[in-house]
Amino acid sequence: MVGALEYVLALGGLAISVSLMTSRRRQPPGNLTLPPVYGPWYLPYPIRGVLAMAKLGMDEDNFLLSLRRDYGPVVHLPWPLNQVFVLDGSLIQKVYGTPSSTLSFTPIRRELQTVAFGSSWKISQGPGLTRMFPVHAKGLTNLRIDAPVERFTRVVQAKVAHLKEQIESSPEEAVEIPIVKWVIDTMFEAATSGLFGEEFCDRTLKAGLQKDFNRFDACFALLAAEMIPMALYSLVPPIADGMKGREAMFSVLAQWVEDGLPGLDEGVIHDMAQIGLAEGYTSREVATLLSGDLWALQANAPYVASALLLYILQSGILDQVREEIDALPRQNEGTSDPVVTLKTLASMPLVASCVQETVRMNTSSFSIRVVEKDFVLSASGEGGIFIPAGMRVVCITRVGHLMDELWGANPESWIGDRFLPEKQGDALSSKRSREMNGFGGGISICEGRHLATAELKSILTIMLSNLDITPLKHVADPKIPIQAASAGNLWKGLQPSRDLTRPGLGAFQFGASDVSARVTKRKTS
Ligand code: HEM
Ligand SMILES: *[C@@H]1O[C@H](CO)[C@@H](O)[C@H](O)[C@H]1NC(C)=O
Repeated sequence: MVGALEYVLALGGLAISVSLMTSRRRQPPGNLTLPPVYGPWYLPYPIRGVLAMAKLGMDEDNFLLSLRRDYGPVVHLPWPLNQVFVLDGSLIQKVYGTPSSTLSFTPIRRELQTVAFGSSWKISQGPGLTRMFPVHAKGLTNLRIDAPVERFTRVVQAKVAHLKEQIESSPEEAVEIPIVKWVIDTMFEAATSGLFGEEFCDRTLKAGLQKDFNRFDACFALLAAEMIPMALYSLVPPIADGMKGREAMFSVLAQWVEDGLPGLDEGVIHDMAQIGLAEGYTSREVATLLSGDLWALQANAPYVASALLLYILQSGILDQVREEIDALPRQNEGTSDPVVTLKTLASMPLVASCVQETVRMNTSSFSIRVVEKDFVLSASGEGGIFIPAGMRVVCITRVGHLMDELWGANPESWIGDRFLPEKQGDALSSKRSREMNGFGGGISICEGRHLATAELKSILTIMLSNLDITPLKHVADPKIPIQAASAGNLWKGLQPSRDLTRPGLGAFQFGASDVSARVTKRKTS
């Protein structure tokens, strides 16, 4: 431990002296300006950078919102971040629209493949990934996810049927359950079956892999920040624990690859593994690639699903949502189960709007770009902010989601039909959808957004057509402080508390914080 600390301090000291010597910024040409630098003028840049990092880690929302209030839409956070934060929705669209020869993402994606997902540098920097990227992106489009959605839906239906049996066999014909945990566990199993197939899902259940996944996921923010060299992973306790979880994931994945991917004969995971094997990668190396998919599949959607359900149950919009769900075609007369396919799910505009609104409210996503060539960020065309090559630009979607004018008077309220075109009926409605950036955007946009949206609609549909759910009370997680509602927060319903240790990593998570709920069979009205 002491060795590690000394190493980090020495490295930090060296970097501070280098950056003190080189922190004069290049002057921009013509009528362009540099972005303002974060922090009090009398402090050296590296100290301001460390301050920014600490605040981001401790109080993400207040820090991010204060940046926009104090510095405007663009601010430079000095080393160790050395990043330009873009805080305004329309400027974020400019970044997303800039070609990758100027603002690139691939170097970051490749780096993550090694520092977070454990592939060798040879693989993450090699030509194999170049062949995989387009196959991966194509494999998750709406044209290719019918089978995953069908498998996903089958698991959720079985889980709900099981819950109904428990309800029937209880004396009061009701059960009281931690609803968030139920949703997250169900999502984990259903999505694993969806993307990786039933056999792999069975193996993860037998191995208790969800726990290992959570251990790995818990250290993901530390890995992605790239502040700790890989050689030191085993010396930093949270990372050491995360590596054990990751190792368990590798071993189940590698064995399944070794066995020839039983239970899966098509789809994106199948194709990726085949390309990897054709490149001559070992089963374990293929497992490192697939672990990235497992992470992307499970780190966000289960949490959004819980928040979505709790919002709808408590927002007064439940009856309208059920009307939409009840209008879906039925399997046969008299069954309560609607037909849930990619196609039927596309016919629920209100539910789609609720999904967008939940992603807007309950995500904080940083889309990062490497500045390959000097570039100018400007809203109107005249003047503009000069950003020199070598910097990193980060789109801070959370601030746009809460502060842009187009959200109207109550950006901090969950309004389920906010994204419904007919209801809004104004020029802003399509702009709102464009500036809902919870899935990121441009060249780094979430490839799983279609699958995620279908998962969320599917679980909601099956739960609400079969069950009546009444949230009862908050269940605290001792490790996560209960957050006082902020002044502008009009939401009065029950939600689990947000885990604040994952800035910019996507959907809000909540540790063991939960909401207990009373669940009965749906009374057909
Ligand atoms: C509501 C649930 C989800 C949210 C909020 C979410 C959010 C995100 C975000 C913010 C990014 C990075 C975007 C950027 O850097 O600009 C991302 C990337 C990604 N997501 Fe999702 N995601 C969700 C569900 C999923 C699911 C179910 C999958 C399925 C496999 C998935 C697959 C991916 C992949 C593969 C990437 C990486 C794309 C790349 O590196 O180019 N996501 N997601
Ligand atoms: C969702 O976000 C809102 C604020 O944007 C917060 O009040 C609420 O507690 C969050 N819910 C969860 C489950 O994170």
